[in-house]
Amino acid sequence: MLVIVKKNYDEISKEAAQIVADRLRRKPNMVLGLATGSTPLGLYKELIRIHKKEGLDFSKVTTFNLDEYVGLPPTHRQSYNYFMYQNLFKHINIPQHAIHVPDGMAHDIDGFCDWYEQEMQRFGGIDLQVLGIGANGHVAFNEPGSSLGSRTRVKTLTQETRQNNARFFKGKEEVPRYAITMGIGTIMDAKELIMLATGSGKADAIKAAAEGPLTSQCPASVVQLHRKTFVIVDKEAGAKLTGLYPGSWKSSFTLAR
Ligand code: F6R
Repeated sequence: MLVIVKKNYDEISKEAAQIVADRLRRKPNMVLGLATGSTPLGLYKELIRIHKKEGLDFSKVTTFNLDEYVGLPPTHRQSYNYFMYQNLFKHINIPQHAIHVPDGMAHDIDGFCDWYEQEMQRFGGIDLQVLGIGANGHVAFNEPGSSLGSRTRVKTLTQETRQNNARFFKGKEEVPRYAITMGIGTIMDAKELIMLATGSGKADAIKAAAEGPLTSQCPASVVQLHRKTFVIVDKEAGAKLTGLYPGSWKSSFTLAR
């Protein structure tokens, strides 16, 4: 695990974008795993900039998103499908057929989840997966207590997550109760992971993920078992990590573990 501590959100976004762009230039047909939420927005903005200014080519890429709410069509403004189109896909040259976001409207959800897993395999597996982290240590919609070997499946959202996400809906009751999410085992199969976090609200989660015990109570702690993970945080999100010295972010500190 490489923990990279940067000065601010802008810098973590650029650092992550450089890694994605580098992998894409080396392997133009790479399989890229993507996340939603506020954290990766800066990364997507920077990838769009690199695409427009430096010609970063997405024409051969295949993408798989982590998750989607059950019951929301792609046209719903809070669906993750909609989010991805607005914040990334419509700004780059990725072909429509290469985009995979779980189908929250699937009639046979279990069948869909099996198909999603098979599709990832058919494309050779995910090369690089982008992840955010919840304040409670969740990754994708794998809440505390999720099986560490889990695959893509339907999960019941916790009250806490529905409450947190209520700000995007008209109220908590509007927040879907279920979501399709890649499992922890699915995420662990990716060849490389980038976990991003910003702000003091994520400091405990990052501490638990990078240095705490490996436990399903903090699903993100499973990255300690992964062979190649970048944890890229700003100084606030990294504030509780041991091994950092005051002001370490000034030199774009990297903690190799
Ligand atoms: C999104 C996802 C979630 C978020 C997490 C952090 O696809 O899987 O696990 O990464 O909830 O969300 P933000 O970035 O909004 O703090």
